[in-house]
Amino acid sequence: MDQIKVLDKTFKKFIHFVQIQEAIARIAAEIDRELYGKNPLFLGVLNGVFIFAGDLFKMIQTPCSISFVKMASYRGTESTGKVHQLIGLQEDLTDRHVVILEDIIDSGLTIEMLLEHLNNHHTASVRIASLFFKPKAFKGHFSIDHIGIEIPNEFVLGYGLDYNGFGRNYRDLYVVTKDEDELVR
Ligand code: IMP
Ligand code: MG
Repeated sequence: MDQIKVLDKTFKKFIHFVQIQEAIARIAAEIDRELYGKNPLFLGVLNGVFIFAGDLFKMIQTPCSISFVKMASYRGTESTGKVHQLIGLQEDLTDRHVVILEDIIDSGLTIEMLLEHLNNHHTASVRIASLFFKPKAFKGHFSIDHIGIEIPNEFVLGYGLDYNGFGRNYRDLYVVTKDEDELVR
């Protein structure tokens, strides 16, 4: 399927699953090289990360553990603006080498908020691995240690990423089509 319809939008195939798996294998090798024997703790940011986290985790060789958190954002009062709450962190992070796993980093705000929460946890180190990255949208003040594939600043879906909850189940990555694309179809 080169074109799919999800809710009211049409998407076209953008990155083949084989290329995605190659990027994940490279990230796994990098993490193994840098953290071998240090019992890293992977911390996946739900929901979108669940497929990437599963595929990556199977490729990791060093003894390690994994846990998942969620960043819930909701509107606070007028003065506080957006409030980000960290949900689901039960692990003791003291002296752990934490590897944050994200499906995609866009503006970087989600990770920035998560890093703030992790600040008071006395970790041994915190690294960030993101499967996809939109450099043109990025406004964060942190560096990303492991990047799978850089993509343009466009809305994508598939491989765990959703459009209003749908489309996570496709194994390839799709990009939303613009009106011109639809005309030449
Ligand atoms: P950020 O906080 O702007 O970096 O956005 C990160 C989160 O927004 C990701 O974890 C995704 O859940 C979601 N997101 C960002 N870009 C896309 C996209 O193109 N498709 C689907 N979800 C996205
Ligand atoms: Mg996400």
